[in-house]
Amino acid sequence: MSSVLLPTPRPLADRHGRVATDLRVSLTDRCNLRCTYCMPAEGLEWLPNDEVLTDREFLRLIGIGTSLLGIRTVRLTGGEPLLRKGLERLVAGIAALPTRPRIALTTNGIGLARRAQALADAGLDRINISLDTLDPETFHRLSRRRRLDDVLAGIAAAQQAGLQPVKINTVLMRGINDHEALPLLRWAIDQGVQLRFIEQMPLDAQHGWNRQTMITAGEILEQLSAEFSLAEDPQDRAARGSAPAELFRIAGTDHRVGVIAAVSQPFCGACDRVRLTSDGQLRNCLFARTEQDLRTPLRSGATDEQIADQWVSAVAVKLPGHGIDDPSFLQPDRPMSAIGG
Ligand code: 5AD
Ligand code: SF4
Repeated sequence: MSSVLLPTPRPLADRHGRVATDLRVSLTDRCNLRCTYCMPAEGLEWLPNDEVLTDREFLRLIGIGTSLLGIRTVRLTGGEPLLRKGLERLVAGIAALPTRPRIALTTNGIGLARRAQALADAGLDRINISLDTLDPETFHRLSRRRRLDDVLAGIAAAQQAGLQPVKINTVLMRGINDHEALPLLRWAIDQGVQLRFIEQMPLDAQHGWNRQTMITAGEILEQLSAEFSLAEDPQDRAARGSAPAELFRIAGTDHRVGVIAAVSQPFCGACDRVRLTSDGQLRNCLFARTEQDLRTPLRSGATDEQIADQWVSAVAVKLPGHGIDDPSFLQPDRPMSAIGG
C-alpha cells in the first residue's frame, strides 16, 4: 500500500496561549425561522449569491485548515445549514479530505426528519439542534414561525439515524420561555437527549440584548435544583477542556445537563474556535470586530500556503476575551445568523 506524505500542520496559535483546532463554518446566512435573539422579523438583507462560497471553495478552505493548520473538528452552521442545497454532498466531501476532521452540524432541525439518515451516511458525526420551548404558541412567539412539530420530528430522526448524543441548545428569555427550564429537562431525560442551556449573548440583529434581563446560568441552575439534584462530576470537569458547556450529572441517573455561561462565566481563556462566514471571511472570535478576507485570495489564484499564512496571522491577533462587560464593548456588525454559533 502506498502511503501519502501529509505535511506537518502549523498550529493556529494566538498570543494568549490558545490554539484553534475547531472550525465553525457558516454555510448560509439564511434561515427559515426568525428567533428574536438572533434575527429581526424582517428587513435583514441576505448576502448576495455571488459572494457566498461554492462547495468547491468551502472544501478547499476546509482542506487547508485540516491539512496545513491542525483543524480537527468542522462544525457546519448557518443561518440554517439545512437550507444549503446539497449539504449531504458537502459533508461527504469533507469526510473524504486527506485529513478527515470530525464533522458536526448545528441546526434548527426543520427538514431534518427527511435528511438525518443521509447526513449520517455521508459522514456526519455529531449534531446540535436548537429547541427553546415545547409549547407551540411560545415557539411561534420566539421564532415567529409555526414549526415546532418539524423540529421535534427532526430531533427524533437524528436519534434514529444514530447521531448520538443528540445535543439540544436552549436559550431562555425572560418572560417568554424562562418558565420552561424544568419541563424541557424532564422532556430531555425522557427522550434521552442532552440539554444545554446557553446564556443569551448580545448578538441579535436589533441590538435588544440587556445584561439586566438576561437569564443567568446561576438562575437556571437554581430553577433546575427545585426538582433535580445536580452534581458536577469530577471526570466531566477534567474532560471539559475547551468545551463551552459545564456539565452537571443528575443524581440517580446517567443523564447530564449542560450550562453554557458565555456571559456570566466566560470561557474565552480555553477557546479553541475559529469561524468562517459563508462569504469567506475568517473571524477569530464570535465577537470579533474585524475579519480576514479569504475569498479574495481564494478567487484570485493564491496558493494554499498563501491562504494558510493569512489564516495564521488572523488567529494570532485574537483578543483574550469577548469584553461584553467592558464599557467600550460593541456588538459585532454581523448578527448571529450571519456568523454561526
Ligand atoms: N445568544 C445565545 N445563543 C444564541 N444562539 C443564537 N443566537 C444566540 C444568542 N444571541 C444559539 C441558537 C443556536 C446556536 C447556533 O446559537 O439557539 O442553538
Ligand atoms: Fe435561524 Fe438559528 Fe437564528 Fe433561530 S437562531 S433565526 S434558527 S439562525
